[in-house]
Parts: sequence; structure tokens; C-alpha cells
Amino acid sequence: MPGKIGIVGVGQVGAAAAYMLSRTPGIREVVLVDLDRARAEGEAADIAHAAAFGGVAEVRAGDYADLAGADAVVISAGASLKPGQTRLELLTRNVRITAAIIPEVRRAAPDAIQLFATNPVDVMPAIAVKRFGIDPRRAIATGCALDSVRFRDRLARHFDVAPTALHAYVLGEHGDSEVLHWSGAHAASMPLERFAVLTGRPLPPELRAGIAEEVRTSAYRIKQGKGVSNYGIGGCVARLAQAVAGDEHTIFSVATFMPELLGVRDTCVSLPHVLGRQGSSAPLLPPLDAGEEEALRRSAAILAEAIDRGLA
Ligand code: 2OP
Repeated sequence: MPGKIGIVGVGQVGAAAAYMLSRTPGIREVVLVDLDRARAEGEAADIAHAAAFGGVAEVRAGDYADLAGADAVVISAGASLKPGQTRLELLTRNVRITAAIIPEVRRAAPDAIQLFATNPVDVMPAIAVKRFGIDPRRAIATGCALDSVRFRDRLARHFDVAPTALHAYVLGEHGDSEVLHWSGAHAASMPLERFAVLTGRPLPPELRAGIAEEVRTSAYRIKQGKGVSNYGIGGCVARLAQAVAGDEHTIFSVATFMPELLGVRDTCVSLPHVLGRQGSSAPLLPPLDAGEEEALRRSAAILAEAIDRGLA
């Protein structure tokens, strides 16, 4: 029966994801695995108590073996971003931790989609594919799914419409070189530019630049304030896991390993993908304007270099 999700690494992000999943329709069981078993037990009990007020899923602590039969396993172990740090600065430490987990998850749940949430998140599917031979369609990083929601949320406030009424993606690195895909954004069946004119809420270049900066630095500002960024990514993980478990075929901007993108070899950056029970579709590269194409190529090159370092 579908609807089982595993989470390996029950820090602030794993716990937020578990809490969201406990209330997510279509999810019936969430298994928390952590080196610190007492921590996993504590989070599971706490979340189960909240779920008793109206959740839908059973949440429990377990070992790798308890992941058997999961539709997706979220890997969220590792060090999190400290204020002032970039995601790529976590590379060596978090690749080592993630690389120890990937084969354990494969052994316990060979059919599960591996869903990576540990930063630098875009590097992790490449480690799964290149080091462990995992099928690229089944190793997926949350990537810019979160940034895309941040972009839509910011645009929604500008236009005073629901975020779900907007169609807008962030592409590239989940990090400093990300690319807001303005040229492909649309609402009410028209390009955003036209929508802005019709609604009398223009988007001059300086406002666009401000929105891009706001989206790009969201995590840094959140961390300055509270020391950790966990609910946004927790919500993102839960939504992606739900799409996999429910075989939704919804489209998200996530990162999968690509042998080539815009002339850059062996890279992994976010592009729209269709997500379902079998994992992701091939990446869907949308039409880009010249500036976006150059920015995406640069982002892909930054990640290719990070992947090289991660695999070394
Ligand atoms: C975020 O964007 C830290 O990558 C995490 O919130």
C-alpha cells in the first residue's frame, strides 16, 4: 500500500518534514532513522502527540531495516548552514555523511526514491548516480522547489493573487547562482509582463532585481533571525514525498543528475521535472532568454565543479 516515507537524519529539517508529513493526505506511515535513536524516538513521540489532534499518518522511530517498502526516503542528515556560510561550504562534510547513508537506504528500500535535502543539495544526486550507480530518475534533490515557492510567494504579494495562481520557476543551483526564470513566468494565460500591465502593478527592473535578491537570500535572512531554516524546506520535502507516494505527475523544479546541460558535462541543477511513483521524468529545459541561458550555464558549471570536488 503506498504512503510510506522514511526520513534519515532527524535534525530540525527532518523533524519539520516529519511533522508536515504527519498531516499530509496520502501519507500513512513515517519512519524516522537517526544515529541518535533517542532523538528519533523523542521526535516521533512528540509528533505523534500532535498528530493525535488530527494528523493522518503514524510516525515512529526505526532502523534502516524499517524503511522496507517506503515510496520515498528523505535524506536530511548532516551539518546545516550557519549564519554567514554558503551552502557549498558544507560540501566535504555533508557529502561524506550522505555517501554513508545512500547504500544503506538502497539495501533497505531498493525501490524507494531517494529524496535529498542536505546541503549542498544539488551535489547529492550526482554522488548517488556516479558513486553508487543509482538510476538518475530515482535520486532527486529538493533543489529549487523551495526557491520557486519563495518566488511565487513574493510575486503573489506584489500582484495580490494566490501563489497557486502564478506559474513561475527558479532554475539552477539551490544557492547563490540560482536563476529566476522571469521570461517563462505567467499568470492568467499570459506572460507576467503583460499581467503586470493589465493589473496596474508593473515590474520595473529594479523591483525584479530586488525580488531576485530577496528570493536568493531568503535562507540567509531566516538563519540570521532564528539560526536555522527548517519549516520551508520541511514543507517542500513533504510536498515532494506526497507527489511521489501519490504518483501525482506534478511538475516541480528539482535537481537530478545530467550528463550534459548547455555544454556543461556531469552536472546537477534544478529544472522542471514531472514527479511520480517512478521518480522524476527527464529534466525539462524551458526556452530561456539570452541572459537566463548564460546564468543557467554558469550555475551548471559551478555545480559541475562542486560535484568533481565531492567525488574526489
Ligand atoms: C533553505 O534554503 C537552508 O537551503 C535551505 O532554506
